[in-house]
Amino acid sequence: MKILITGANGQLGRELTRQYSERKEELILTDVEQLDITNVGEVNTFVKLHRPEVIINCAAHTAVDKCETDVDNAYRINAVGPKNLAAAAFAVGAEIVQISTDYVFDGEGSRPITEFDEPNPQTVYGASKLLGEKFTAQLNPKHYILRTAWLYGEGNNFVRTMLKLSETNKSIKVVNDQQGSPTSTVDLAMAIIKLVDEKNFGLFHATCKGQCTWYELTKEIFRLKGIDTEVVPCTTEEFPRPAKRPRYSVLSNRMMVLTTGDIMRDWKEALEEYLK
Ligand SMILES: NC(=O)c1ccc[n+]([C@@H]2O[C@H](COP(=O)([O-])OP(=O)(O)OC[C@H]3O[C@@H](n4cnc5c(N)ncnc54)[C@H](OP(=O)(O)O)[C@@H]3O)[C@@H](O)[C@H]2O)c1
Repeated sequence: MKILITGANGQLGRELTRQYSERKEELILTDVEQLDITNVGEVNTFVKLHRPEVIINCAAHTAVDKCETDVDNAYRINAVGPKNLAAAAFAVGAEIVQISTDYVFDGEGSRPITEFDEPNPQTVYGASKLLGEKFTAQLNPKHYILRTAWLYGEGNNFVRTMLKLSETNKSIKVVNDQQGSPTSTVDLAMAIIKLVDEKNFGLFHATCKGQCTWYELTKEIFRLKGIDTEVVPCTTEEFPRPAKRPRYSVLSNRMMVLTTGDIMRDWKEALEEYLK
């Protein structure tokens, strides 16, 4: 299969590249230097030239706080980019994979959020990613849209930040009133590959199982690594950020369980493997 991966230097892009390379698939790897997904002409020309069978868009503006002020760029990369790719894919008969986020929801609920729940983004990042989903679905019926959350892999992420902070701090304050599901790029990439293999099109939540707070996640990271830095729970109010954070952001992988199967690991199991 000929697969174009955009944003291939990012966390998910790297893991997908690793997993697809093991299967000896024909990969076209691009990041912003080779293919700027916001440039419609460039995208159309590139896709027509290479004629991939599947396009997997791992490119995004993921700096949630920066998006609040860098609004045009957020919409360009998270909404216009997916629009360009979905339409270009359609023109050559290719399938499109778009990755989205728990930030499309307001996080005000108290039970795991399914694909049947209504989005209500509270941030520029969330709103721009929701528009990216809509454009993808409108412009290419052969789409897979996966919403994930609290992603970590090869690159900058919360897990690495905490490990770094532990090197220079005896004690760290971490937010304990936001719930979510830490998700390994290994599991997310496996889910993408399985959905594409099965041609199981549609909208899916794709997070590791179980839930915790950022404080509980940090405690687990330090426990697994034998780090004795103290972790002190604090509230969101003590840590004000430009973009509002969802309080309850636990996604239920309902559609995946109903169709492809219950394939995502528990977050603790995936984290343990990552830290090895
Ligand atoms: N990280 C999370 O916690 C999280 C949570 C939920 C959902 N997601 C979603 O999961 C997906 C993968 O996230 P990730 O953490 O792997 O992202 P990432 O590590 O930030 O990688 C994104 C990549 O896209 C590139 N990029 C930016 N603008 C581009 C453009 N115009 N054209 C082409 N490439 C461009 C970036 O390059 P530069 O670095 O040079 O800008 C980077 O290499 C994204 O859709 C994200 O929204 C992530």
